[in-house]
Amino acid sequence: MTVGNFKGGVGKTKIVTMLAYDNAQVRHKKTLVLDLDPQGNASQVLAKTANIERIDKTITDAISSGSIAECITPIMDNLDLVACNTSFRSFSKFVLTNFESEIEQISVIRNLLKPIKEKYDSIFIDVPPTISEFSDNAMAASDYSIIAFQTQEESLDGVSKYVGYQNFMVDRYNINLQVIAIVACMIEPDDNLDQTILNEAREQYGDAVLDTVITFQKRLKRYSREGIYLQKNKNGKFDQWDYKAHDNFIKILSELDARDAFLTANA
Ligand SMILES: Nc1ncnc2c1ncn2[C@@H]1O[C@H](COP(=O)(O)OP(=O)(O)O)[C@@H](O)[C@H]1O
Ligand SMILES: [Mg+2]
Repeated sequence: MTVGNFKGGVGKTKIVTMLAYDNAQVRHKKTLVLDLDPQGNASQVLAKTANIERIDKTITDAISSGSIAECITPIMDNLDLVACNTSFRSFSKFVLTNFESEIEQISVIRNLLKPIKEKYDSIFIDVPPTISEFSDNAMAASDYSIIAFQTQEESLDGVSKYVGYQNFMVDRYNINLQVIAIVACMIEPDDNLDQTILNEAREQYGDAVLDTVITFQKRLKRYSREGIYLQKNKNGKFDQWDYKAHDNFIKILSELDARDAFLTANA
């Protein structure tokens, strides 16, 4: 699954890292995060989560060696990472100089993932907010996309642009990719504008918009700096702020399961 929107700062990386953490830690599913953003935000958060100081091998090494298996960084039980850093900014140049046909150019990541794909229950791909070789390769490598949006002016515009571009990719290259979910991010429950735009999204995209919305929470912001955690108190109960932060994402994972089952049955 690729979490996309051609806009920065809407909450894509937050979704990728939280869904991956909870899928692995809470649901015990074998999970991989593939970071394709040269800014490496997802890699940094997951490295902090695991107290890893330095990651040696990244997606750039996987591409030059042709083998991704040796470039996997284990983060915790059931959670692996293929990391990214600024060296990956030359991906577009690499793709354009090494592959002639367009279909080969968009299939670099898909081909790289093939030997390890079946080892995981879920793979979450994080991308930069650009229409580029990064996004095209992520789309071609994915079965599903999750479109993140923030309830600000122009943000729904971003959703329709993303859907439009995805349809273009599907038609042009005959790739097998569906929108599994549209997710509202950083919602302030008391903000009228947020609620208005959320209603507008539901009118426009119907059931594609998840019932679960991701609320704005200081704890979620803090995880970006400190790494992700889910602590229990002495009485064995989850810390209430951690629990609240993770709860949104655990619910989203259930919604995604139901949709996957439905889409697979009706394929
Ligand atoms: N639900 C949330 N509550 C609070 N802060 C959030 C939430 N989602 C994202 N953020 C913060 O907003 C910023 C942008 O989020 P990020 O996931 O990096 O966006 P993107 O990947 O789309 O650029 C980050 O600083 C992140 O910590
Ligand atoms: Mg990001």
